[in-house]
Amino acid sequence: MAGVFISFEGIDGSGKSTQARLLFETLTANGTAAHLTREPGGSAGAEDIRALVLNGAADRWSPETELLLFTAARRDHLEKTIRPRLAAGEVVICDRFADSTRIYQGLTRGDLRASVDALHTLMIGIEPDLTVLIDLPAEAGLARATARAGSDMRFEGMGLAVQQAARDGFLALAAANPARFAVIDGARDQAVVARDVWDVAAARIAAR
Ligand code: ADP
Ligand code: TYD
Repeated sequence: MAGVFISFEGIDGSGKSTQARLLFETLTANGTAAHLTREPGGSAGAEDIRALVLNGAADRWSPETELLLFTAARRDHLEKTIRPRLAAGEVVICDRFADSTRIYQGLTRGDLRASVDALHTLMIGIEPDLTVLIDLPAEAGLARATARAGSDMRFEGMGLAVQQAARDGFLALAAANPARFAVIDGARDQAVVARDVWDVAAARIAAR
């Protein structure tokens, strides 16, 4: 059976990680072989790069260097985790993927969209079968992310305008790629959001 590649995208605090985990748990409970992973990270080498890129002062890396680090991490993740799992027929659920680079390095943290696309074509070359965009107003995302405030703080100092630009950018990507994206309203109880996620994911998995 063919594998299915599902990514979750959205602004910080939108509920991506929560929804990715709930989908993974439901699939596993139903006896579907699935693997939950994340970016940056998801393989040993990519987790090392994650520690480099998410920690330290905000100006530690330029947007260009960041783009190279995120792409290097993604390439390792693809080689070591995503491709082997898909080849084994698993449903690979990834918390963030290339759309995050398009938005953050391409739009809000850098103005590098042409370089992002060129590097993606050169080094990555695949898109998810389904991308679930958990959409949430910028204010709500910021409030949730601030309340959670973990250790990877290099990117969390950003303000409302940046979150707003990222939200708009994700919605524009979804509008430009309607066959790949499902946009789900994340401003509801997490069980209600999870039901909508299940509907689109189950339909995509059934179609494999
Ligand atoms: P992300 O991965 O998009 O940053 P998380 O899944 O980590 O988001 O959620 C961010 C915070 O918001 C967490 O504290 C989580 O428990 C909470 N949260 C997630 N989904 C919801 C929801 N639907 N309603 C309220 N709070 C939520
Ligand atoms: P993540 O751990 O998913 O944070 P959160 O759970 O708060 O959404 O991602 C960490 C940060 O990395 C996040 O601010 C987005 C950023 N990022 C990029 O800038 N480019 C990328 O390609 C990826 C995958 C993430």
